[in-house]
Amino acid sequence: MDKFVIRGGNPLVGTVRVSGAKNSALPCMAAAILTGDEVTLENIPQVRDIDTERRLLESMGAEVQLGYGRAQHRTTINCRTLSDPVAKYEIVKTMRASSLVLGPLVARMGLARVAMPGGCAIGGRPIDLHIKGLEKMGATLVQEHGYIEARADRLAGAHIVFDKITVTGTEDLLMAAVLAEGETLMENCAREPEVGDLAGLLKAMGAKIEGAGTSTIKVQGVTRLHGAKHRINPDRIEAGTFLVAGAITGGDLIVANCNASNLGAVISKLEEAGARVDILGHDTVRVRADSQLRAADISTEEYPGFPTDMQAQYMALATQSEGASQVKENIFENRFMHVQELVRMGANIKVEGRTATVRGPARLSATAVMCSDLRASASLVLAALVADGESILDRVYHMDRGYERIEEKLRGVGAQIRRMGNVFAAREEPAMAE
Ligand code: UD1
Repeated sequence: MDKFVIRGGNPLVGTVRVSGAKNSALPCMAAAILTGDEVTLENIPQVRDIDTERRLLESMGAEVQLGYGRAQHRTTINCRTLSDPVAKYEIVKTMRASSLVLGPLVARMGLARVAMPGGCAIGGRPIDLHIKGLEKMGATLVQEHGYIEARADRLAGAHIVFDKITVTGTEDLLMAAVLAEGETLMENCAREPEVGDLAGLLKAMGAKIEGAGTSTIKVQGVTRLHGAKHRINPDRIEAGTFLVAGAITGGDLIVANCNASNLGAVISKLEEAGARVDILGHDTVRVRADSQLRAADISTEEYPGFPTDMQAQYMALATQSEGASQVKENIFENRFMHVQELVRMGANIKVEGRTATVRGPARLSATAVMCSDLRASASLVLAALVADGESILDRVYHMDRGYERIEEKLRGVGAQIRRMGNVFAAREEPAMAE
């Protein structure tokens, strides 16, 4: 298993480029199921989850080409024949987002078998709202042997009000609705930019959608969708992680190729903590921190609130801020796995229920730490960048699920970070998160 060796102390200076959003690319790849024509996606990040989704689609009979060389961020998917509409447990257990194929498979094939995702590192992750929505659209769902089997001759438009805001739930049912007969009205939808990104692709494929990106989405079902080409938006969580990296190291970092308009909550929190943030254009943000950071509270919310996927990284920053910062996690029940590792590095953090109180600034000292999930790994990388000495981060496969060549990108702006492979270690299946 690969490890990162990081020597702390260098301020990050220069320009770092953001890759395409993993959480947009995953539903967009699943959307290719909805047509027998070719779907081409550009700006696909080269991360492990994308490869998992490729394997998932191929296991159903799809042809998936991931580009090489100059075309390395392009993927072409052809779902002309889907011989086996099954998402197997072996794949679903490593990536919960696999359940995104449920809606499109029933809509196009009339049949889907998808393994139940079960729990994961950051808490229970039910898909009951996906199931409830499909039932409202006329599908029959049976759960047995750890699988959900959904059948429908043709889905029918329905009025769906989500009990709780769910990102992949909104995406899954949106993909089901575009081929359903008649109108579907969905309320209390997720407003995350990734939903809008998916809707952009679906519209290019011929779908009739209004309101994606707001809490009410209206869909007029069509009988057939065609192929399309679509460019994936920049990854706002990777961008946010770099902004924190610039601030925590007291650097001067330009984050390029991002989308400044969907980073609002993160930028205003960094400013409250004393960093200087300048929006240099719609796709470029500069962050500087030349004085002592100060405590600022966060509370994770659905978009446009502070993203849960940035909570762990923000906590690393809070360890370096003067005063007590309260970090409240509202979306997931068990998303403080990074706390114990940060404490082992010298952080002063107390957790009570869903709130962590971080007192700083703490002098972090390097040690060997273990990554437990994707964003927890990012938090430990950030802490290691300011720790005294050389930290060794184990299980960086979690990081590789969602960050493209992170060590090269950070090294390019002055970080002392290298990857150490351990070819003799037994291969371990990653635990699922996100
Ligand atoms: C997506 C993101 C993930 C992010 C999360 C919240 C992808 C691939 N992943 O995950 O990175 O952390 O949004 O922003 O886009 N819930 C239910 N029933 C359901 C579905 C969800 O109770 O049927 C609950 C979940 O347990 C959780 C909350 O709703 O407490 C939000 O989850 P959800 O928005 O569905 O997260 P994901 O879409 O899985």
